[in-house]
Amino acid sequence: MSTTTSSRRLTRRSTLLRSAAALALTLGLAACGSAPSGGGEAAAGEDTITLGFSQVGAESGWRSANTQSIQDSAAEAGIELQFSDAQQKQENQIRAIRSFIQQRVDVIAFSPVVETGWDTVLQEAKRAQIPVVLTDRSVDSADTSLYATFLGSDFIEEGRKAGQWLVDQGDTGPVNVVELQGTTGAAPAIDRKEGFAEVIAGAPNIQVVASQTGDFTRSGGRQVMEAFLVSQPDIDVVYAHNDDMALGAIEAIEAAGRVPGQDIRIISVDAVKDGMQALADGKINFIVECNPLLGAQLMDLVEAVHAGEQVPARVVTEETVFDQQAAIAALPTRLY
Ligand code: AHR
Repeated sequence: MSTTTSSRRLTRRSTLLRSAAALALTLGLAACGSAPSGGGEAAAGEDTITLGFSQVGAESGWRSANTQSIQDSAAEAGIELQFSDAQQKQENQIRAIRSFIQQRVDVIAFSPVVETGWDTVLQEAKRAQIPVVLTDRSVDSADTSLYATFLGSDFIEEGRKAGQWLVDQGDTGPVNVVELQGTTGAAPAIDRKEGFAEVIAGAPNIQVVASQTGDFTRSGGRQVMEAFLVSQPDIDVVYAHNDDMALGAIEAIEAAGRVPGQDIRIISVDAVKDGMQALADGKINFIVECNPLLGAQLMDLVEAVHAGEQVPARVVTEETVFDQQAAIAALPTRLY
């Protein structure tokens, strides 16, 4: 795949300037949270790939970094990007995908806001012979022929890593955990919950005493944590499915006169800069990385499926974990 991909890239570099004006238009409209922008085949040169991409929204620092990575990588690869922001609504994503099909883009990629309910629109893409690449989140469909590949993290493993850190602390007394879940029905919310529960099942003193969605947002995390602090008499640990909700929880804990990271330990997922700073400051205790910089790999896959090449059905992102010392060491060069 790499040799043909790089020769395609070299050819496309010469078309980069031609597509720059159309790309600027795309980026400008995307910033307004618009419907799909640009003009499909009519706007692109004949040898330029047009990619229709439906993003979940702009709910978190992770998402902003992911969007930037995709936009930068499309420009670098000379791919004409039709970008649509779904504002965390499945109906907006379905509308965007139908619009991409109508425009006859070359490839469709999207990060599904929730796991279920995609078969009909994906069958429409298949009938139109437009290959689909899933990125970041997958769909729950029995028919895997509806998409060419899925590039993204192993969310269950992320949940396991979060649970393992807590088990490894070796607490002997009861440990009461409150969980801030991601968006209801979203793959990372379902899988991070499952992975964490699987590991702490081996430590009966650790119990999840309350679990509620904060929708992956800072305001959602703060609101849910405020309610937990009233309804739960004894909270030892917050397990937040992303950094933004952990940062919201920190605000709620401090407003309640308690010390995050000490009175209440916090485990989170993502490792975006704000989360890493809170970890370095001792307000978060442990972060499992979820890498948003998927753009370059996504463009490689888009080029390969467009060329009719075989691609792996699943490409898993490599990720690590951070404690306070690791966060202090990583922060100066952290890209997102
Ligand atoms: O799908 C990835 C998740 O979505 C990130 O962990 C979260 O921050 C984002 O909103």
